[in-house]
Amino acid sequence: MAQNQCLILASALAILSWISSPSRVTSVGVNWGGNASHPLPAPKVVELLKANNISKVKLSDTNPEALESLSGSNIDVIAGIPNSLLKSLNSSFKAAKSWVHDNVARYVSSDGSRVRIEYIAVGDEPFLQSYGGQYIPFVVGAAANIQTALIKANLADKVKVVIPCSYDAFQSESGLPSKGHFRPDLNKTMAQLLTFITKHNSPFFASLSPFHLLHQNKNISLDFSLFKKATAHPLNDSHRFYNNSFDLSYDTLITALSSVGFPIIDVVIGQIGWPTDGAVDATTSNAEKFMAGLLNHLRSRSGTPLRPQESPKEIYILSLLDEDQRSVASGGFERHWGLFTFDGQAKYNVPLVGEGSRKSLLNAQNVDYLSARWCVVDNSKDLGNSVVRALEACSSADCSPLLSPGGSCSNLSWPANISYAFNCYYQQHDQSADSCDFGGLGLITTVDPSVDQCRFFVQIRTSYSVCLKGWSLTYWIVLSTSLASIYLSRFAH
Ligand SMILES: *[C@@H]1O[C@H](CO)[C@@H](O)[C@H](O)[C@H]1NC(C)=O
Ligand SMILES: *[C@@H]1O[C@H](CO)[C@@H](O)[C@H](O)[C@H]1NC(C)=O
Ligand SMILES: *[C@@H]1O[C@H](CO)[C@@H](O)[C@H](O)[C@H]1NC(C)=O
Ligand SMILES: *[C@@H]1O[C@H](CO)[C@@H](O)[C@H](O)[C@H]1NC(C)=O
Ligand SMILES: *[C@@H]1O[C@H](CO)[C@@H](O)[C@H](O)[C@H]1NC(C)=O
Ligand SMILES: *[C@@H]1O[C@H](CO)[C@@H](O)[C@H](O)[C@H]1NC(C)=O
Ligand SMILES: *[C@@H]1O[C@H](CO)[C@@H](O)[C@H](O)[C@H]1NC(C)=O
Ligand SMILES: *[C@@H]1O[C@H](CO)[C@@H](O)[C@H](O)[C@H]1NC(C)=O
Ligand SMILES: *[C@@H]1O[C@H](CO)[C@@H](O)[C@H](O)[C@H]1NC(C)=O
Repeated sequence: MAQNQCLILASALAILSWISSPSRVTSVGVNWGGNASHPLPAPKVVELLKANNISKVKLSDTNPEALESLSGSNIDVIAGIPNSLLKSLNSSFKAAKSWVHDNVARYVSSDGSRVRIEYIAVGDEPFLQSYGGQYIPFVVGAAANIQTALIKANLADKVKVVIPCSYDAFQSESGLPSKGHFRPDLNKTMAQLLTFITKHNSPFFASLSPFHLLHQNKNISLDFSLFKKATAHPLNDSHRFYNNSFDLSYDTLITALSSVGFPIIDVVIGQIGWPTDGAVDATTSNAEKFMAGLLNHLRSRSGTPLRPQESPKEIYILSLLDEDQRSVASGGFERHWGLFTFDGQAKYNVPLVGEGSRKSLLNAQNVDYLSARWCVVDNSKDLGNSVVRALEACSSADCSPLLSPGGSCSNLSWPANISYAFNCYYQQHDQSADSCDFGGLGLITTVDPSVDQCRFFVQIRTSYSVCLKGWSLTYWIVLSTSLASIYLSRFAH
């Protein structure tokens, strides 16, 4: 009798697991990049991750402050190797060994618990077309050396080596996913890379960028990109129907993987997001629709036409915070991928961590801002030179909301647009009085000059105070050393 019940229970469990096995839940992490002039302090960023129950983070490097702050946090970490190190890591096993020692081994305790480094990302999208192929020859060799160094350090069962591929590493000229392939200059490298990661049971890391695709492909509409199924026109790829740009990009990648002989490899989306400024269609409301559509789609577990009922293992949202020093080679929007502004304030709400989680994101707390002061143009002066001054200011400060067509400040009329440029420079220089000079045209004000969507920001207190501390420490050392030597020389006499 009891045996019978057990049997029934067991078969019920088996059926249940059969029903649920093909549709695993996608875990959601975020990219935490380092290209900011005034980075939010690492401990605050980790508080922000914890407050929002974000349990996975991808770093673009191995910033010791970030890793120390993540220590003991239960957050899974991807440590990044900068592209600039790939050449030496390819040619020297010794270099790989010391990289693993300095950046991984010292943070991972013997039970793997201190900093939970789950992956090492070899390169920061080293195949991006804008790099002109300079890193391609070193990537797989560097990955192999890092892998061997991990084995030697007894870490290979805890830490996996992955290689993040940019969205432009694969393509389809006709726009049809069934015609997807890797970029021809990557053919050989991809075959080696996939052989390598398959051998070590690592997943394939790729970025998808429906935002770039929208701008590059005239056949793709905004509704199709934002998961608006009711109004988007489906794409017919020989009887396979695509309802959104995510599925289309994902299956383009799956076809590319199949074409080089790896049709069933696990895929992780290393970067995916929607910017909120710096381009037409880069708005907060579009970003909110995209993220909500993406997360709903993944949670519906419907999969894509080529991988039905199957979702990527993990996705990492681009990005946690805005970064004002990212390259704007492809557009001002590159500085506005954040779910949060540079100072850790949520731009919109989205249920990040699954059904039942709060829909609203929590902001960073107790952020240390500079004073509520702005630099504007002094209207009472002769403004003949002001446009030149503004452009100079923008050559070093981040003026992307002003200078990018469609940017949140691109509609500012003259001379408010000059004021915006002056303020960017003033804030970037930590509100130092001489950074609001502009040949006598600048004026410091305590009245917020923001208009409508265009926010005149106040910077957070970081680099200036760090710099001051650095100076005073040096000063103190010099002073005490000279006092000591005076004392010692007296003593000697
Ligand atoms: C995070 O998880 C805790 C406990 O499960 C929950 O109370 C809280 O609402 C969650 N916060 C968010 C932002 O989802
Ligand atoms: C990568 O390293 C290997 C082994 O040291 C070396 O033979 C090869 O030439 C290197 N590749 C390049 C492109 O330098
Ligand atoms: C756009 O659609 C047309 C007509 O269906 C097709 O011929 C063309 O290849 C498509 N272009 C792209 C870039 O997808
Ligand atoms: C790349 O690989 C694909 C599939 O193996 C092949 O069709 C294509 O011709 C290759 N391209 C180059 C440039 O080698
Ligand atoms: C989809 O495309 C195929 C050819 O690839 C065509 O035979 C079919 O009629 C199309 N279906 C629709 C609904 O347009
Ligand atoms: C696209 O939408 C149609 C209509 O709602 C649906 O029948 C089809 O299954 C969807 N395709 C995918 C791949 O989700
Ligand atoms: C970030 O900065 C580093 C150097 O500081 C640079 O190599 C890298 O390309 C930058 N990344 C982006 C996305 O701008
Ligand atoms: C700028 O003005 C144009 C024309 O009035 C309008 O279509 C656009 O939405 C405005 N952009 C912003 C960011 O306010
Ligand atoms: C500000 O607006 C004026 C007048 O439209 C224009 O000539 C000038 O180039 C703009 N300057 C900046 C920095 O946007």
